[in-house]
Amino acid sequence: MIRVFKPSYDNLELEAVAEILKSGWVGLGPKTAEFERAFASFCNVDHCIGLNSGTAAISMALRLLDIGAGDEVIIPTMTFVSGAHCVINRGATPVFVDIDRDTLNLDLNDVRNKISSRTRAIMPVHFGGRPVRMDELKAIAEDIPIIEDCAHAAGSKYRGQSVGSIGAIGCFSFHAVKNLAMGEGGAIVLNDGEMAKRAKKLRWLGINRETWDRTNLDRSYWWEYSIDEIGVKSHMDDIHAAIGLVQLRKLEEANQRRREITLIYRNGLGSIEQLEMPLEETDDFVSSWHIFEIKAQRRDELNLFLDRNGISTGVHYKPLHLYTCYGSQPALPVAEDVFRSILTLPLYPDLTDEEVVYVINTIRKFYNDR
Ligand SMILES: Cc1ncc(COP(=O)(O)O)c(C=O)c1O
Repeated sequence: MIRVFKPSYDNLELEAVAEILKSGWVGLGPKTAEFERAFASFCNVDHCIGLNSGTAAISMALRLLDIGAGDEVIIPTMTFVSGAHCVINRGATPVFVDIDRDTLNLDLNDVRNKISSRTRAIMPVHFGGRPVRMDELKAIAEDIPIIEDCAHAAGSKYRGQSVGSIGAIGCFSFHAVKNLAMGEGGAIVLNDGEMAKRAKKLRWLGINRETWDRTNLDRSYWWEYSIDEIGVKSHMDDIHAAIGLVQLRKLEEANQRRREITLIYRNGLGSIEQLEMPLEETDDFVSSWHIFEIKAQRRDELNLFLDRNGISTGVHYKPLHLYTCYGSQPALPVAEDVFRSILTLPLYPDLTDEEVVYVINTIRKFYNDR
């Protein structure tokens, strides 16, 4: 079976994990700090705080902005449930906006329409790695903070700037199938030093000094710490950070391989009239190519045909406003329409050219045969 997503690991990750296990320090410690320095530098920001998931990163960003009951956060409807769940878990209300048909990113006009006196943040998602037009969004947002959901977008750039570094806080996921895959992991990136200090405490229950610091500074276990604010348990650990450091070194090359695969798909599928290819990169942006989504006629039949032929595909995403857990929501026609035809094709660095050609030929067969 050709999977839709797959992490790509070799001996380097194995050796990195073995080194940590042998070192005897596997929790939050020096490797996490090393990863944070490396990822902050990669994103060109002052601070990175390592966490245990992208969901934890979004939750932390909302907390740092003191978002709570009575507040609204604007979110695109075409995304994973994490962002909306986190907003609700803070007692605030997600306000869903429609998407742009070509980019699948949030529709900037709809954002403008839905800003109210209660809007406390806007949370764009760089869908599939394709950056949101951040200059325009910032102009619309004025002084409303922007939390960038960069879960798909490790390595994406908008007008030369790394995503995550453009809004107030950037949230990354390093989940098992993301471009930088740790198994589980996430991070926030930001330039605000006070918020970064607060996040470092909040991620470990509010405790003001990490165990590693206390062990390291005094060479004996200094037990004293203070807690001014109650936090959560959501920090990264050194095993995941060690995997992340190796993945980070490979990221640009891995994203380049993803880009090559998208070109093979375009060449093989671009002429099929029942299909629409995703937007290509422009001078304005570099995509991480986390997702290669096509818009396909008879999508559900195609999906089953591919599955019967050993090819997994996905649908990213069912629009959030259609889930019953968010209550009755106004219609968002573009997302609802796009949802009926989108299909995510297999894309990961280890996918071979032969496998990509097999996917192409199977899709061609489906449309030729019917
Ligand atoms: C757009 C988006 N945001 C947030 C997340 C949450 O990340 P995690 O699974 O690491 O919690 C995901 C994960 O798939 C995602 O796709």
